[in-house]
Amino acid sequence: MASAATAAVFGFVGVAHAADNKEIQMLHWWTSGGEAAALNVLKQDLAKEGYTWKDVPVAGGGGEAAMTTLKAMVAAGNPPTASQILGYFALDYAEAGKLGDVSSIAAKEHWADVVPKALQKFTTTNGKWDAVPVNIHSVNWVWINKAVMEKIGGTEPKSFDDFVALLGKAKAAGVIPLALGGQPWQEATMFDSVVASTGGIEFYKKAFVDLDESALKSATMKQAFDNLAKLKEFVDPNFAGRDWNLATAMVIKGDALVQVMGDWAKGEFGAAKKVAGSDFLCYRFPGTDGSVIYNTDMFALFNVSADRKAAQLALADATMSISFQSAFNVVKGSVPARMDVPDTAFDACGKKGIADVKSANAKGSFVGSMAQNYAQPPAVAGAYHDVVTKFFHGEIKTSDAAVTELVKAINNAK
Ligand code: GAL
Repeated sequence: MASAATAAVFGFVGVAHAADNKEIQMLHWWTSGGEAAALNVLKQDLAKEGYTWKDVPVAGGGGEAAMTTLKAMVAAGNPPTASQILGYFALDYAEAGKLGDVSSIAAKEHWADVVPKALQKFTTTNGKWDAVPVNIHSVNWVWINKAVMEKIGGTEPKSFDDFVALLGKAKAAGVIPLALGGQPWQEATMFDSVVASTGGIEFYKKAFVDLDESALKSATMKQAFDNLAKLKEFVDPNFAGRDWNLATAMVIKGDALVQVMGDWAKGEFGAAKKVAGSDFLCYRFPGTDGSVIYNTDMFALFNVSADRKAAQLALADATMSISFQSAFNVVKGSVPARMDVPDTAFDACGKKGIADVKSANAKGSFVGSMAQNYAQPPAVAGAYHDVVTKFFHGEIKTSDAAVTELVKAINNAK
């Protein structure tokens, strides 16, 4: 199907010929087991169409290191065909005129009708498609080892207090309650959920999307920091600096009860051949059910030389095909970025994810992740990471000081 559509586009832009460069150069940070397995789905689809893959992997969850490499490549006038990218990072490249244009194929395949409007803010510039959304991840999930849950006699936590009680049960039973990777982006990603749980999704929006100062320094935000501090009591002594997928592995192996992480964690369970419902349980972060705090992986499509454009179009086309969106997201742990992909191939967590996106999108509780650059530009998101991590590691000592620092850091970054 993808190749037929691509051929149709070539009809408009000229037939692909021998001089076309068949190589697709892709920069990304998908280096864990689950991530690499998902990316393989795309590599294989494109290989079938005769394209070769030049991998530019830059390890580091959350993509901070990848974004530094990308910046250098673009500045050197040597952009990749495409790069994995998040939210406002894409808008910066678009504004700087660095992105290409795949609108011809977008119009032909009616992407505007099937991709949530909220995402189109990041994939288009003045109506022109210059990025394609690969998936919809969301950060407000918890991942639980089912055998450990049964061993400690735990039940689904419905509120933040329930969650703390559950973690307490694990601690009493001698199990590591919370598997955490103590890196700024991971702590900030967890704090997104804590804020939405503490204040509700409208509060989250007011604080992080509107940057309303009264919300940022409110008693509710202080409470959110106090709640974050409670979670620190349940991590193991070696949490600092740990990679996210190693924290997931602790839950997979039963060394820890739970990880708070976006649904890329489910990709790791899948790669370890663990099954939703029998080996592990997924719940929305307690107190956030009904809301989806999203981060979508996009492929930013750079302005490349004429001989590389056909390959770029083929990549965009393959990425947006219904069959790929299903196959890739089953492996990645995320849900499709198109709303017309059947949930048939997905496990129970994936089916819930798909249903949650649809209902949250309809009722206005589909909101971008602050930690993952979907609520604010990188400078503000970076300031947020900084304050959250300083608080979590004790450099900022009280929730009072934390909200003061948060307001200050955000105002400086704006
Ligand atoms: C996120 C990204 C996910 C996943 C995660 C950990 O930023 O959206 O796809 O890769 O980082 O690397």
